[in-house]
This record gives sequence, C-alpha cells and structure tokens, in this order.
Amino acid sequence: MLPSVFTWLPLPNLPKVPERFIDLAHKLGHAKEDPSSDSLITDGTIDMEYKTRIVTKNGKSQVTRCQERIDMGQEWNEWVRDNIINDFIETSLRINTGPEQSTLHGPHIDGEFYRIYYLIDRGGDPETVFYHHPEHPILFGKGLERGRVWSNVDDLIEIERVKFPVGQWLIFNGIILHGIENVTGPRLNFNISVWPKHFDFSINNK
Ligand SMILES: [Fe+2]
Repeated sequence: MLPSVFTWLPLPNLPKVPERFIDLAHKLGHAKEDPSSDSLITDGTIDMEYKTRIVTKNGKSQVTRCQERIDMGQEWNEWVRDNIINDFIETSLRINTGPEQSTLHGPHIDGEFYRIYYLIDRGGDPETVFYHHPEHPILFGKGLERGRVWSNVDDLIEIERVKFPVGQWLIFNGIILHGIENVTGPRLNFNISVWPKHFDFSINNK
C-alpha cells in the first residue's frame, strides 16, 4: 500500500551531483542516437506503446516523446549508495527523446515505486504536468499494469503543472498520471528508483 498523496517534493538537503558526473552525463546523453538500443524496452520495463504512440492535445496529434535509460557505470552507483540511498531499485541517466517536431511526452504512470530525480538540462522551457483521469483514482495502486498510458490529454483533468528546478534532488510520485509538455531540446536527468517504504509520510503515530 502506498501511504502518501503528493505529486513531487524538493529534497534540498541532499548533496549536489559532482561536476565529473554532470560531464559524463552530457557526454553519454549527446552520444545517444539509437533509440532501438533502449534498455528500458529490452528489460521489459516499458513497451513500444509507451514509446511510439500518438498523443493528442487540444485536438492536435503528434508522436509522443519518451524517457530512455543510459547506464552511468559503477562509480555513479557507488556515489548514489554513499551519498543518497543505499537501497535503490535502479539508478541511471535518462534522456527525453522523440521525433524532432514532437514536444509532448504523453501521460503515463511509472510503476509502484518513487523516483528520486535530478534535472541536469531542461530541454527548452518544458513543464511537467500531473493529471487525473475522471474514471480512475488519482493514485494508481496495485492491479494496474506498469507503463500504463493515456493518449488523449483532452480526456484528463490537469491537477498540477511545474517547472522542476535544475541541479537539485526532488522526489517524484509516478503513480499519478503525468507527462511533459513543450520539450524543445535535450532534456537530461538522473533517476534513482526507490521503494515506497523509504518514504512513509504517515501522521498516525499510534
Ligand atoms: Fe514517468
């Protein structure tokens, strides 16, 4: 059971990422040209529907953008263990990619974990948007498959719109439908997927 209802929270007391990892992220991110090599597809975490679907907003359709995973290597994993959290599910660099004319990463849910998230490059002036599907709870819990997507933004109710800070850790609740709008350039972030048990916000102290 997931205990908390929030969209995202800043984590300002976590340390900044050292410059050597930012440099490596830029190098790896810019070298990423072959979307078919995406390990999120090959390990079954997401599927081709998430990656290639047509999304519609204000009646206009375009091919969705998506997040691709890039391995940062052992030194990064150790830095995360030593400085952020030692019991993570996965950590990597993520780049938001898609057809050049596409600016919309369509609504989806991530899975039953939280993300600790660190934006490196904004990719223009995008906004992350959280949505409510009127026929579903805001929080998607057990029983719904991972990577679930909705392709028509016009069916959804917007509940929050945010420009994430750059160069600061935050926690992100991906069991709420969310997407990104107005991506116009390379958007890079570090991701640490973590179990919900590490973030129990309960106020019941009995
Ligand atoms: Fe997501």
